[in-house]
Amino acid sequence: MTDEFPARPTWADIDLDALEHNLRQAQQFCLPQQRVLAVVKADAYGHGALPVTRRLLAAGVEDFAVATLEEALALRRAGIEAALMVLGGCYPGQEAAFIQYRLLPVLLDPDATLRLAAEAQRQKTILPVHLKIDSGMGRVGFLPEQLREFLPTLQQLAGLEIVGLMSHLACADDLDSKLITDLQHEQLGAARQMLAAAEIYPAELHISNSAGLVAWQSADCTLIRPGIMLYGGLPGADFAERLDLRPVMHLRSCIAQLRQLPAGSGISYGHHFTTERETRVAVLPIGYADGYNRLFSNCGRAILHGQQVPVLGRVCMDWIMLDVTDLPQVAVGDCATLLGQADGLSILGDDWAAQLETIAYEVFCRIGSRVPRRYLAEQA
Ligand SMILES: Cc1ncc(COP(=O)(O)O)c(C=O)c1O
Repeated sequence: MTDEFPARPTWADIDLDALEHNLRQAQQFCLPQQRVLAVVKADAYGHGALPVTRRLLAAGVEDFAVATLEEALALRRAGIEAALMVLGGCYPGQEAAFIQYRLLPVLLDPDATLRLAAEAQRQKTILPVHLKIDSGMGRVGFLPEQLREFLPTLQQLAGLEIVGLMSHLACADDLDSKLITDLQHEQLGAARQMLAAAEIYPAELHISNSAGLVAWQSADCTLIRPGIMLYGGLPGADFAERLDLRPVMHLRSCIAQLRQLPAGSGISYGHHFTTERETRVAVLPIGYADGYNRLFSNCGRAILHGQQVPVLGRVCMDWIMLDVTDLPQVAVGDCATLLGQADGLSILGDDWAAQLETIAYEVFCRIGSRVPRRYLAEQA
Protein backbone atom coordinates (compact mmCIF):
# COMPACT_ATOMS: atom_id res chain seq x y z
CA MET A 1 0.00 0.00 0.00
CA THR A 2 1.03 3.58 -0.60
CA ASP A 3 -0.44 6.14 1.79
CA GLU A 4 -3.97 5.76 0.47
CA PHE A 5 -3.99 3.39 -2.50
CA PRO A 6 -2.65 -0.05 -3.33
CA ALA A 7 0.88 0.06 -4.76
CA ARG A 8 1.99 -1.22 -8.17
CA PRO A 9 2.42 -5.00 -7.71
CA THR A 10 6.23 -5.02 -7.66
CA TRP A 11 8.10 -5.57 -4.41
CA ALA A 12 10.97 -7.36 -2.70
CA ASP A 13 10.21 -9.92 -0.02
CA ILE A 14 12.89 -9.82 2.67
CA ASP A 15 13.05 -13.13 4.50
CA LEU A 16 14.27 -12.30 7.99
CA ASP A 17 14.37 -15.96 9.01
CA ALA A 18 16.86 -16.54 6.18
CA LEU A 19 18.89 -13.61 7.53
CA GLU A 20 19.07 -15.25 10.93
CA HIS A 21 19.96 -18.59 9.35
CA ASN A 22 22.88 -16.88 7.57
CA LEU A 23 23.94 -15.20 10.82
CA ARG A 24 24.11 -18.62 12.49
CA GLN A 25 26.27 -19.80 9.59
CA ALA A 26 28.65 -16.91 10.17
CA GLN A 27 28.72 -17.62 13.89
CA GLN A 28 29.67 -21.24 13.22
CA PHE A 29 32.94 -19.99 11.72
CA CYS A 30 33.66 -17.71 14.70
CA LEU A 31 36.08 -18.85 17.38
CA PRO A 32 34.80 -18.76 20.98
CA GLN A 33 36.47 -15.42 21.68
CA GLN A 34 34.95 -13.77 18.60
CA ARG A 35 31.64 -12.02 18.00
CA VAL A 36 29.91 -10.79 14.89
CA LEU A 37 29.83 -7.09 14.12
CA ALA A 38 27.11 -7.02 11.47
CA VAL A 39 27.73 -4.77 8.48
CA VAL A 40 24.42 -3.03 7.69
CA LYS A 41 25.78 -0.22 5.52
CA ALA A 42 24.08 0.84 2.28
CA ASP A 43 20.68 0.14 3.80
CA ALA A 44 21.84 -3.36 4.77
CA TYR A 45 23.00 -4.01 1.22
CA GLY A 46 19.57 -2.93 -0.05
CA HIS A 47 17.61 -5.11 2.38
CA GLY A 48 16.56 -2.31 4.75
CA ALA A 49 18.91 -1.30 7.56
CA LEU A 50 16.31 -0.86 10.29
CA PRO A 51 14.38 -4.16 10.02
CA VAL A 52 17.62 -6.05 9.41
CA THR A 53 19.29 -4.46 12.44
CA ARG A 54 16.23 -5.11 14.61
CA ARG A 55 16.17 -8.79 13.63
CA LEU A 56 19.90 -9.22 14.18
CA LEU A 57 19.58 -7.51 17.57
CA ALA A 58 16.82 -9.94 18.49
CA ALA A 59 19.13 -12.76 17.37
CA GLY A 60 21.77 -11.55 19.83
CA VAL A 61 24.09 -9.37 17.71
CA GLU A 62 25.39 -6.42 19.74
CA ASP A 63 27.67 -4.62 17.29
CA PHE A 64 26.83 -3.02 13.94
CA ALA A 65 28.66 -1.03 11.27
CA VAL A 66 27.45 1.45 8.66
CA ALA A 67 29.38 3.46 6.12
CA THR A 68 28.28 7.01 6.82
CA LEU A 69 27.20 9.30 9.63
CA GLU A 70 23.84 9.71 7.87
CA GLU A 71 23.25 5.96 7.94
CA ALA A 72 24.16 5.85 11.63
CA LEU A 73 21.86 8.75 12.51
CA ALA A 74 18.94 7.09 10.71
CA LEU A 75 19.36 4.02 12.91
CA ARG A 76 19.88 5.98 16.13
CA ARG A 77 16.87 8.18 15.46
CA ALA A 78 14.80 5.05 14.85
CA GLY A 79 15.71 3.91 18.35
CA ILE A 80 18.66 1.56 17.75
CA GLU A 81 20.83 1.83 20.87
CA ALA A 82 23.44 -0.83 20.01
CA ALA A 83 27.12 -0.11 19.32
CA LEU A 84 27.28 1.56 15.89
CA MET A 85 30.56 1.91 14.04
CA VAL A 86 30.91 4.36 11.15
CA LEU A 87 33.37 2.75 8.75
CA GLY A 88 33.63 5.74 6.42
CA GLY A 89 35.35 8.09 8.87
CA CYS A 90 34.47 11.51 10.23
CA TYR A 91 34.30 14.50 7.88
CA PRO A 92 34.96 18.07 9.09
CA GLY A 93 31.96 19.36 11.00
CA GLN A 94 30.66 15.88 11.93
CA GLU A 95 32.70 15.49 15.15
CA ALA A 96 30.02 16.65 17.60
CA ALA A 97 27.47 14.25 16.13
CA PHE A 98 29.70 11.26 16.95
CA ILE A 99 29.70 12.31 20.58
CA GLN A 100 26.04 13.32 20.76
CA TYR A 101 24.82 10.05 19.19
CA ARG A 102 27.41 7.78 20.86
CA LEU A 103 28.79 6.53 17.54
CA LEU A 104 32.07 4.69 17.15
CA PRO A 105 34.26 6.52 14.66
CA VAL A 106 36.93 4.73 12.68
CA LEU A 107 40.10 6.83 12.66
CA LEU A 108 41.36 6.85 9.09
CA ASP A 109 43.92 9.66 9.17
CA PRO A 110 45.70 12.09 11.52
CA ASP A 111 43.51 15.07 10.59
CA ALA A 112 40.20 13.43 11.58
CA THR A 113 41.86 12.03 14.71
CA LEU A 114 42.94 15.49 15.83
CA ARG A 115 39.54 17.01 15.07
CA LEU A 116 37.68 14.31 17.02
CA ALA A 117 40.07 14.62 19.94
CA ALA A 118 39.67 18.41 20.01
CA GLU A 119 35.86 18.14 20.04
CA ALA A 120 35.92 15.49 22.78
CA GLN A 121 38.20 17.71 24.88
CA ARG A 122 35.98 20.72 24.27
CA GLN A 123 33.03 18.67 25.53
CA LYS A 124 35.15 17.30 28.40
CA THR A 125 34.43 13.72 27.43
CA ILE A 126 36.29 10.63 26.28
CA LEU A 127 35.21 9.23 22.92
CA PRO A 128 35.85 5.52 22.26
CA VAL A 129 37.30 5.01 18.75
CA HIS A 130 38.68 2.28 16.49
CA LEU A 131 41.89 2.95 14.59
CA LYS A 132 42.23 1.56 11.10
CA ILE A 133 45.45 0.70 9.40
CA ASP A 134 45.89 0.17 5.68
CA SER A 135 47.59 -3.20 5.69
CA GLY A 136 47.44 -3.68 1.94
CA MET A 137 44.10 -2.52 0.63
CA GLY A 138 45.59 0.69 -0.75
CA ARG A 139 42.50 2.60 0.25
CA VAL A 140 41.88 4.24 3.64
CA GLY A 141 43.47 4.05 7.07
CA PHE A 142 46.90 4.83 8.50
CA LEU A 143 49.76 3.36 6.49
CA PRO A 144 52.19 1.61 8.88
CA GLU A 145 54.80 4.36 8.45
CA GLN A 146 52.19 7.06 8.99
CA LEU A 147 51.12 5.37 12.23
CA ARG A 148 54.72 5.20 13.42
CA GLU A 149 55.16 8.93 12.82
CA PHE A 150 51.84 9.80 14.44
CA LEU A 151 52.35 7.57 17.47
CA PRO A 152 53.93 10.20 19.77
CA THR A 153 50.96 12.52 19.09
CA LEU A 154 48.49 9.67 19.58
CA GLN A 155 50.10 8.77 22.89
CA GLN A 156 49.65 12.31 24.20
CA LEU A 157 46.17 12.79 22.84
CA ALA A 158 43.42 13.43 25.38
CA GLY A 159 39.75 12.95 24.54
CA LEU A 160 40.00 9.66 22.64
CA GLU A 161 40.23 6.09 23.87
CA ILE A 162 41.42 3.64 21.23
CA VAL A 163 39.24 0.63 21.99
CA GLY A 164 39.82 -1.14 18.68
CA LEU A 165 42.47 -1.71 16.04
CA MET A 166 41.30 -2.82 12.62
CA SER A 167 42.13 -3.30 8.98
CA HIS A 168 40.44 -4.62 5.85
CA LEU A 169 41.38 -7.57 3.64
CA ALA A 170 41.91 -6.87 -0.04
CA CYS A 171 41.91 -10.33 -1.62
CA ALA A 172 40.23 -12.64 0.90
CA ASP A 173 37.65 -13.77 -1.68
CA ASP A 174 40.51 -15.30 -3.70
CA LEU A 175 41.51 -18.61 -2.11
CA ASP A 176 44.93 -18.26 -3.77
CA SER A 177 45.65 -15.02 -1.92
CA LYS A 178 47.53 -16.60 1.00
CA LEU A 179 50.64 -14.47 0.49
CA ILE A 180 48.91 -11.08 0.55
CA THR A 181 46.31 -12.11 3.15
CA ASP A 182 48.95 -13.46 5.54
CA LEU A 183 50.95 -10.28 5.02
CA GLN A 184 47.90 -8.19 5.93
CA HIS A 185 47.42 -10.17 9.14
CA GLU A 186 51.11 -9.65 9.94
CA GLN A 187 50.78 -5.90 9.36
CA LEU A 188 47.86 -5.80 11.76
CA GLY A 189 49.92 -7.66 14.37
CA ALA A 190 52.82 -5.27 13.84
CA ALA A 191 50.53 -2.25 14.29
CA ARG A 192 49.24 -3.78 17.49
CA GLN A 193 52.82 -4.12 18.77
CA MET A 194 53.54 -0.54 17.75
CA LEU A 195 50.58 0.63 19.83
CA ALA A 196 51.59 -1.59 22.74
CA ALA A 197 55.04 0.01 22.72
CA ALA A 198 53.22 3.32 23.23
CA GLU A 199 51.13 1.73 25.99
CA ILE A 200 47.96 1.74 23.92
CA TYR A 201 46.10 -1.58 24.27
CA PRO A 202 42.90 -1.74 22.20
CA ALA A 203 40.58 -4.46 23.46
CA GLU A 204 39.21 -5.25 20.00
CA LEU A 205 41.13 -6.46 16.96
CA HIS A 206 39.43 -7.08 13.59
CA ILE A 207 40.20 -7.52 9.92
CA SER A 208 37.82 -10.17 8.53
CA ASN A 209 34.91 -9.65 6.19
CA SER A 210 32.77 -12.67 5.16
CA ALA A 211 35.54 -14.20 3.07
CA GLY A 212 38.13 -13.62 5.80
CA LEU A 213 35.90 -15.32 8.35
CA VAL A 214 35.35 -18.40 6.21
CA ALA A 215 38.80 -18.82 4.68
CA TRP A 216 41.39 -16.88 6.69
CA GLN A 217 40.59 -17.08 10.39
CA SER A 218 42.88 -15.40 12.88
CA ALA A 219 42.73 -16.37 16.54
CA ASP A 220 43.96 -12.92 17.60
CA CYS A 221 40.82 -11.20 16.34
CA THR A 222 37.88 -10.49 18.64
CA LEU A 223 35.40 -9.12 16.09
CA ILE A 224 34.38 -10.36 12.64
CA ARG A 225 32.66 -8.01 10.16
CA PRO A 226 30.48 -10.07 7.81
CA GLY A 227 28.20 -8.34 5.33
CA ILE A 228 27.40 -10.21 2.14
CA MET A 229 27.03 -13.65 3.70
CA LEU A 230 24.33 -12.38 6.06
CA TYR A 231 22.28 -11.50 2.99
CA GLY A 232 22.83 -14.87 1.35
CA GLY A 233 25.48 -13.78 -1.16
CA LEU A 234 28.71 -15.69 -1.59
CA PRO A 235 31.89 -13.75 -0.80
CA GLY A 236 33.40 -15.40 -3.88
CA ALA A 237 32.54 -18.11 -6.37
CA ASP A 238 34.80 -20.63 -4.60
CA PHE A 239 32.87 -20.39 -1.34
CA ALA A 240 29.72 -22.21 -2.47
CA GLU A 241 30.76 -25.56 -1.03
CA ARG A 242 31.79 -24.12 2.31
CA LEU A 243 28.55 -22.29 3.00
CA ASP A 244 24.89 -23.15 3.29
CA LEU A 245 23.34 -19.71 2.81
CA ARG A 246 19.75 -18.79 2.11
CA PRO A 247 18.75 -15.87 -0.11
CA VAL A 248 17.14 -13.07 1.89
CA MET A 249 15.80 -10.89 -0.94
CA HIS A 250 13.14 -12.13 -3.37
CA LEU A 251 12.17 -9.67 -6.10
CA ARG A 252 8.65 -10.19 -7.38
CA SER A 253 6.31 -8.56 -9.87
CA CYS A 254 2.79 -9.50 -11.00
CA ILE A 255 1.61 -9.66 -14.59
CA ALA A 256 -0.08 -6.41 -15.61
CA GLN A 257 -1.07 -7.40 -19.16
CA LEU A 258 -1.14 -10.50 -21.36
CA ARG A 259 -1.14 -10.25 -25.12
CA GLN A 260 -1.17 -12.72 -27.99
CA LEU A 261 1.12 -11.56 -30.80
CA PRO A 262 1.45 -13.11 -34.26
CA ALA A 263 4.76 -14.42 -35.59
CA GLY A 264 6.93 -11.61 -36.90
CA SER A 265 6.01 -9.09 -34.17
CA GLY A 266 8.77 -6.83 -32.84
CA ILE A 267 8.93 -6.44 -29.07
CA SER A 268 10.16 -3.43 -27.04
CA TYR A 269 12.54 -0.61 -28.01
CA GLY A 270 14.55 -1.19 -31.14
CA HIS A 271 12.69 -4.43 -31.90
CA HIS A 272 15.68 -6.43 -30.72
CA PHE A 273 13.35 -9.40 -30.46
CA THR A 274 10.94 -10.55 -33.16
CA THR A 275 8.54 -13.39 -32.48
CA GLU A 276 9.16 -16.52 -34.53
CA ARG A 277 5.81 -18.09 -33.65
CA GLU A 278 2.53 -16.87 -32.33
CA THR A 279 3.62 -15.75 -28.88
CA ARG A 280 1.87 -15.05 -25.60
CA VAL A 281 3.59 -12.16 -23.91
CA ALA A 282 3.28 -11.28 -20.20
CA VAL A 283 4.10 -7.69 -19.28
CA LEU A 284 5.49 -7.04 -15.79
CA PRO A 285 5.59 -3.59 -14.14
CA ILE A 286 9.29 -3.63 -13.33
CA GLY A 287 12.26 -2.19 -15.21
CA TYR A 288 15.74 -0.86 -14.96
CA ALA A 289 14.55 2.02 -12.75
CA ASP A 290 13.83 -0.68 -10.17
CA GLY A 291 17.24 -2.32 -10.51
CA TYR A 292 16.24 -4.89 -13.12
CA ASN A 293 19.36 -4.38 -15.19
CA ARG A 294 18.99 -3.38 -18.83
CA LEU A 295 21.71 -5.93 -19.65
CA PHE A 296 18.99 -8.56 -19.08
CA SER A 297 17.42 -7.49 -22.39
CA ASN A 298 16.73 -10.69 -24.32
CA CYS A 299 18.56 -12.82 -21.75
CA GLY A 300 16.88 -12.38 -18.35
CA ARG A 301 14.73 -15.09 -16.77
CA ALA A 302 11.81 -15.17 -14.39
CA ILE A 303 10.23 -17.93 -12.33
CA LEU A 304 6.54 -18.30 -13.10
CA HIS A 305 4.29 -21.26 -12.27
CA GLY A 306 7.27 -23.45 -11.45
CA GLN A 307 9.07 -22.76 -14.74
CA GLN A 308 11.77 -20.40 -15.90
CA VAL A 309 10.61 -18.12 -18.70
CA PRO A 310 12.73 -15.75 -20.80
CA VAL A 311 12.67 -11.96 -21.04
CA LEU A 312 11.80 -10.79 -24.56
CA GLY A 313 13.39 -7.69 -26.08
CA ARG A 314 14.85 -4.72 -24.28
CA VAL A 315 14.28 -4.11 -20.59
CA CYS A 316 12.45 -0.75 -20.33
CA MET A 317 12.59 1.75 -17.48
CA ASP A 318 9.32 0.49 -16.02
CA TRP A 319 8.39 -2.73 -17.87
CA ILE A 320 9.68 -6.08 -19.00
CA MET A 321 8.10 -8.65 -21.27
CA LEU A 322 8.18 -12.42 -20.75
CA ASP A 323 7.46 -15.27 -23.16
CA VAL A 324 4.69 -17.33 -21.54
CA THR A 325 3.51 -19.12 -24.69
CA ASP A 326 4.17 -22.51 -23.10
CA LEU A 327 2.29 -21.69 -19.90
CA PRO A 328 -1.40 -21.64 -20.86
CA GLN A 329 -2.54 -21.33 -17.24
CA VAL A 330 -0.93 -17.91 -16.80
CA ALA A 331 -3.30 -15.04 -15.95
CA VAL A 332 -3.09 -11.31 -15.28
CA GLY A 333 -2.07 -10.81 -11.64
CA ASP A 334 0.13 -13.92 -11.46
CA CYS A 335 3.33 -13.32 -9.57
CA ALA A 336 6.74 -13.81 -11.18
CA THR A 337 10.04 -13.98 -9.29
CA LEU A 338 13.00 -12.23 -10.88
CA LEU A 339 15.48 -12.72 -8.07
CA GLY A 340 15.36 -15.17 -5.19
CA GLN A 341 13.31 -18.33 -4.83
CA ALA A 342 9.86 -19.58 -5.82
CA ASP A 343 8.34 -23.02 -6.45
CA GLY A 344 11.61 -24.73 -5.48
CA LEU A 345 13.54 -22.83 -8.17
CA SER A 346 16.04 -20.07 -7.59
CA ILE A 347 17.68 -17.19 -9.39
CA LEU A 348 20.31 -16.02 -6.93
CA GLY A 349 22.12 -12.73 -6.56
CA ASP A 350 25.22 -14.67 -7.53
CA ASP A 351 23.48 -15.85 -10.73
CA TRP A 352 22.66 -12.25 -11.65
CA ALA A 353 26.21 -11.26 -10.79
CA ALA A 354 27.70 -13.91 -13.09
CA GLN A 355 25.44 -12.85 -15.93
CA LEU A 356 26.07 -9.13 -15.38
CA GLU A 357 29.81 -9.56 -14.74
CA THR A 358 29.57 -7.97 -11.34
CA ILE A 359 29.21 -9.14 -7.71
CA ALA A 360 26.11 -9.98 -5.67
CA TYR A 361 26.86 -6.92 -3.49
CA GLU A 362 26.07 -4.62 -6.39
CA VAL A 363 23.02 -6.64 -7.44
CA PHE A 364 21.39 -6.21 -4.01
CA CYS A 365 22.40 -2.57 -3.54
CA ARG A 366 20.92 -1.66 -6.92
CA ILE A 367 17.40 -2.87 -6.24
CA GLY A 368 15.86 0.58 -6.29
CA SER A 369 14.13 2.59 -3.61
CA ARG A 370 10.98 2.47 -5.78
CA VAL A 371 10.65 -1.22 -4.87
CA PRO A 372 8.93 -1.56 -1.50
CA ARG A 373 10.44 -4.14 0.85
CA ARG A 374 8.03 -6.56 2.55
CA TYR A 375 9.39 -8.20 5.65
CA LEU A 376 8.63 -11.87 6.20
CA ALA A 377 9.37 -13.74 9.37
CA GLU A 378 7.83 -16.86 10.81
CA GLN A 379 9.85 -16.25 13.92
CA ALA A 380 8.93 -12.74 15.09
C1 LIG B 1 35.44 -2.16 6.14
C2 LIG B 1 34.50 -3.26 5.78
N1 LIG B 1 34.37 -4.30 6.61
C3 LIG B 1 33.54 -5.33 6.32
C4 LIG B 1 32.81 -5.34 5.15
C5 LIG B 1 31.90 -6.51 4.86
O1 LIG B 1 32.41 -7.24 3.78
P1 LIG B 1 31.63 -8.49 3.16
O2 LIG B 1 30.32 -7.94 2.69
O3 LIG B 1 32.51 -8.94 2.06
O4 LIG B 1 31.46 -9.49 4.24
C6 LIG B 1 32.93 -4.29 4.25
C7 LIG B 1 32.18 -4.31 3.00
O5 LIG B 1 32.56 -3.88 1.96
C8 LIG B 1 33.81 -3.21 4.57
O6 LIG B 1 33.96 -2.17 3.74
